[in-house]
Amino acid sequence: MGEGTWALVTGASAGLGTAFARQLAARGHHVVLVARSEAKLEALALELHERYGVDAIVVTQDLAAPGAAARIADAVSVAGIQVEVLVNNAGIGTFGRDAEIDADYNRDVAMVNVVAVADLVQRFMPGMVARGSGAVVNVASMAGFQPQPYMSLYAATKAFVVNYSLGLWVETKGTGVRVLAVCPGPVDTDFPIANGIRYDEQRLGWLLADPAKIVKQSLRALDHDKGYVVPDLKNWPEAHLLPRRPRRLMTRLIGLVLRRFADYQRR
Ligand SMILES: NC(=O)c1ccc[n+]([C@@H]2O[C@H](COP(=O)([O-])OP(=O)(O)OC[C@H]3O[C@@H](n4cnc5c(N)ncnc54)[C@H](OP(=O)(O)O)[C@@H]3O)[C@@H](O)[C@H]2O)c1
Repeated sequence: MGEGTWALVTGASAGLGTAFARQLAARGHHVVLVARSEAKLEALALELHERYGVDAIVVTQDLAAPGAAARIADAVSVAGIQVEVLVNNAGIGTFGRDAEIDADYNRDVAMVNVVAVADLVQRFMPGMVARGSGAVVNVASMAGFQPQPYMSLYAATKAFVVNYSLGLWVETKGTGVRVLAVCPGPVDTDFPIANGIRYDEQRLGWLLADPAKIVKQSLRALDHDKGYVVPDLKNWPEAHLLPRRPRRLMTRLIGLVLRRFADYQRR
């Protein structure tokens, strides 16, 4: 995982992904930038090359498309490079009553947040284990800690990311490979706009964390092989003190809070 090795970041065209790419480049990693927005990725590649002197390759890929991970792995192999740090960051959200969400959209959420994550891990982690070094960072969410009515599918995909990552974290002990699940609360990115979510900025704006700070804390947690991290101190009580049981009661209580947010979307 030393300087001059390659890091691959999905969802690098915006938000946390751009921040991961910048901070990994600042640490001396060359970067493979993956997302759909080619122009944004090309601009970032140029910026990182000029600012940090690293190489940057752009792979334009829709992660919801079947075979996405295989095409990314092919592009990496054609470039003749080895991925030492995989950052599965790309993700999309669902908000509102699941029965009212378009089925094709929900399928895309599962493809991007679950299938692509596991498929990319399976394509790049065996090489890391064989070489005895590397890291996998999977961006989950605090939403992955418990069921979240009105964002049910999103929260369930993030529960997958948390549990999958922690399982891998144990499996790779002693191999030289680190695995980290990043579990942020709300972050100030394009996420609401990209996912069609409206919120009252005046009332809720203070909740949003700076993406660069979230990434800094995440990379520090990776350095210390923490397995998972809830960045931003103000999320600590919710992440660690909120009871998870009794399950039915807690899910109903969370639903009461989030229903107001779901109803706000309809106004
Ligand atoms: N923001 C938050 O409050 C928050 C909180 C907790 C966890 N998270 C998680 O953090 C991660 C990053 O989110 P963000 O806040 O940085 O969101 P964002 O600003 O909306 O960025 C999302 C990134 O994912 C990429 N992406 C979306 N759909 C894609 C697809 N089908 N194929 C390829 N790339 C795709 C987007 O690129 P293109 O559109 O160019 O493809 C973009 O680069 C996500 O996994 C999210 O669930 C966010």
